[in-house]
Amino acid sequence: MGTGLLTDPFPRVDGRIQCGGIPLGELAVEFGTPLYVYDMERIRRQVGRFEQAFAGAGVLIAYSVKANGNLALLREIGALGCGADITSLGELHRARRAGIPASSIVFAGVAKSEIELTRALDEGIYGFNVESESELERIDRLAALMGVQAAFAVRVNPNVAADTPHEYTATGHDATKFGVPIDRARALYSWAADRPSLVARGIDVHIGSQIVDTAPYLEALDRVLGLVEELRGAGVGLEYLDMGGGFGISYGDGAGLDIEALGRAVVPLVSEAGLRLVIEPGRSLVGEAGVLLTRVQYVKRTSGKTFVIIDGGMSELIRPSHYGGYHAIRRVDTRLDRHVERVDVVGPVCETGDFLARDREIDMPDPGELLAVHTAGAYGFVMASNYNARLRPAEVMVDGGEARLVRRRETLDDLTRLEEDL
Ligand SMILES: Cc1ncc(COP(=O)(O)O)c(C=O)c1O
Repeated sequence: MGTGLLTDPFPRVDGRIQCGGIPLGELAVEFGTPLYVYDMERIRRQVGRFEQAFAGAGVLIAYSVKANGNLALLREIGALGCGADITSLGELHRARRAGIPASSIVFAGVAKSEIELTRALDEGIYGFNVESESELERIDRLAALMGVQAAFAVRVNPNVAADTPHEYTATGHDATKFGVPIDRARALYSWAADRPSLVARGIDVHIGSQIVDTAPYLEALDRVLGLVEELRGAGVGLEYLDMGGGFGISYGDGAGLDIEALGRAVVPLVSEAGLRLVIEPGRSLVGEAGVLLTRVQYVKRTSGKTFVIIDGGMSELIRPSHYGGYHAIRRVDTRLDRHVERVDVVGPVCETGDFLARDREIDMPDPGELLAVHTAGAYGFVMASNYNARLRPAEVMVDGGEARLVRRRETLDDLTRLEEDL
């Protein structure tokens, strides 16, 4: 099923979890904790899997930079032939610095500023995924001023209920700020038809994140392809259909989306419509390839609870406290047996909401032991903060049997560098 087809990037060998043949314990000693560790080989295989599953539709894999924007990782992903789905000037900067060509970048987001639009027009990106009438008007005006043509796709909100694990990760229904209802999308394309600075290149839909079922994708595509047909009848011929991302992975508490099954269903629909397929996977490319490596500081027992207190928390990985995200947590070295206990795994931040697991049965660690927080390659480091004046962790990439520091740990100087000390 789904991503389970691939081998575990963090196998346990003789009791110790490894990444690319290197024991995580060695990485913790060399680079310190908390530490993000990414397995590049796993990412490479995921890219290959997407390429194969969607090959029949001339797919552009526009990696969703928001999931993990580390430059080294982006450079590797770009070198595999992927483009980028970006959502800000900063992500455009990252993608371009990593060598991803502008011609394979799509730009989503409801609040694109004039500065962001101008820079993206200047670069000549593949398409703006337009989220409102006023945004398209703004793009038209700026493109005319700059004397360029802007290629766009309307992000259609198909009003599909996708079963995502949390309300914050559903985007394809009427009550969210994303996209344009189908009727208004039609009107936007016909308005743009008379504007010499605008080129309708595609159509876009993204229904949410961590979706493990193919049905909502097919429902959304059905609606979008209906509109494509109508537009063609009205003389608006499009080049691509961007079906967004959101492909669910296994966090250890259930199966991920069956990518191959999705490919089998989607490719014929899109290619029969004469369109090129664009997909925007984020989590599904990098999520399972990462762990957050942490060290246990204390074990604290109160009358009703046991707390395993580790050196990383919501400031390093906010998913559990932000939207109830589940991450499997394992002792890195199990050569010594321990009993299983029901605990809360909590971090150092002064918030009751600072936890990585609650009421979870785990193999009870001793203080000083390492814990691996799994499936942390997506929406991990990118959402890390300096709250409580904590230093953001280092990131290491393992590839070809070697570990490379791809972002150093922040220092106390980094913490105050941008402030005036009067
Ligand atoms: C427009 C768009 N595309 C792609 C993604 C990537 O989603 P995921 O990382 O779940 O694949 C997101 C996530 O929020 C998104 O908003």
